[in-house]
Amino acid sequence: MTSVIVVGAQWGDEGKGKITDYLAREADIVLRCQGGSNAGHTVVVGGVTHALHLIPCGILNPDTICVVGNGVVLDLKVALDEIKTLGEQGILCKNLVISEKAHLIMPYHYTMDEYQESLKGDNKIGTTKRGIGPAYMDKAARQGIRLLDLMEWQPFLEKLDYNLKEKNAVFANAGLPIIDEAAKHQIIEEYAAYREQIAPYVGETVYRVNEALADGKRLLFEGAQGSLLDIDHGTYPFVTSSNTVAAGSCIGVGIGPTKIDRVLGIAKSYCTRVGAGPFPTELEDETGEQIRQLGHEFGVTTGRPRRVGWFDSQVVRYSALVNGMTDLCITKLDILDTLPEIKVCTAYSYQGKVIDRMPSTLAHLAECTPIYETLPGWQADTTACRSFRELPTNAQKYILRLEELTGMPISIVAVGADRESTIVRKEMF
Ligand code: GDP
Ligand code: IMO
Ligand code: MG
Repeated sequence: MTSVIVVGAQWGDEGKGKITDYLAREADIVLRCQGGSNAGHTVVVGGVTHALHLIPCGILNPDTICVVGNGVVLDLKVALDEIKTLGEQGILCKNLVISEKAHLIMPYHYTMDEYQESLKGDNKIGTTKRGIGPAYMDKAARQGIRLLDLMEWQPFLEKLDYNLKEKNAVFANAGLPIIDEAAKHQIIEEYAAYREQIAPYVGETVYRVNEALADGKRLLFEGAQGSLLDIDHGTYPFVTSSNTVAAGSCIGVGIGPTKIDRVLGIAKSYCTRVGAGPFPTELEDETGEQIRQLGHEFGVTTGRPRRVGWFDSQVVRYSALVNGMTDLCITKLDILDTLPEIKVCTAYSYQGKVIDRMPSTLAHLAECTPIYETLPGWQADTTACRSFRELPTNAQKYILRLEELTGMPISIVAVGADRESTIVRKEMF
């Protein structure tokens, strides 16, 4: 039995997609467990780029079973578009199973997301506007519509009725167009079509996944978002609406924590964040812009420029803690290839004291200033390196220093977007 959870160790976009695809070759099942199409996972194989939002990155291996778990909020339009695009690229989703317990994103969730953001004004979260928060709100309020409701149809119609009553009251009060009978009819038609198209992929997944585990199959959990975006452990309220940490993966597919062997955190060699919220090591200067351009730091889902900063060991240490991380992977080492020197945040200075903990409140976090250590760059191309020894000495030293500062063994280093641009120091399976 081997189960490996891949989680983002920062604020998302760490390269989870690339590493999941790399490890998927040795896995029997790859699973998405939480989040929805707010995720944008890029995988480059043989020069072809795939941007996946809902379908697990394991889909690029023809024999790998891919599961979209109960914890995911499912946008059927996005899922079906993705299946179609993959099909056009010759990638068939014959091994894709979507949990019937997954909750559906409905058109009114998009409107609510937009509306809630507009109400927040200057305090807006900067969501992906994909309806994620409102869909999880309905799930928690026990009024969400699940895929199994859609498949049965009558429960879908009843739950839609209830939800429209509630949403229309909010929309009318906000001066937004309500969903009238004609608009409701349109939703029903739209979802009737989705129902037919998605049917071949819908199934029971909890027994199936647990049976596979009992049969000694290898499971790879593809985390979405990052640990600092976790609804409980992230920089609340500037977070997403699901548990992005490793424990969330268990809930999101219905397996127990005793079944997990490794938790692999993914962190960039620097740090990025999209959307609003604290980011202690953010660089709002020329160096930040330089790294943004070198790293092509623009969102896969929204196209927004990502905020860029130095590697923050405090963030990754905290992330290691809340995930029970066993291994760390550093991606995008190559992006630092040309820099003469590189800074790393070792701790924070807070009210004149050095602290090595992340404060719980945003006001306290805002008062923290990073304490930096400056390391010499290597100013050499690392993209062709395939073993740790081939890396320039200063790049090796950088990785070893990050190991010391985070307290985590760095088992994988990525030096390029392509699948092959990967250095493995310790096998995961
Ligand atoms: P995810 O959401 O964690 O899967 O990450 P994204 O796909 O949103 O963003 C990571 C970006 O970096 C993608 O464009 C990847 O193709 C790219 N990438 C991942 N690892 C590396 C690497 O080691 N080097 C370079 N140059 N690009 C990488
Ligand atoms: P992947 O899986 C980076 C951020 C949004 C926003 C906050 C809340 O590609 O790493 P939401 O739409 O979820 O309600 O937005 O979370 N966010 C992400 N940032 N990568 C992601 O996914 C993200 N998914 C959500 O930018 O700040
Ligand atoms: Mg992403």
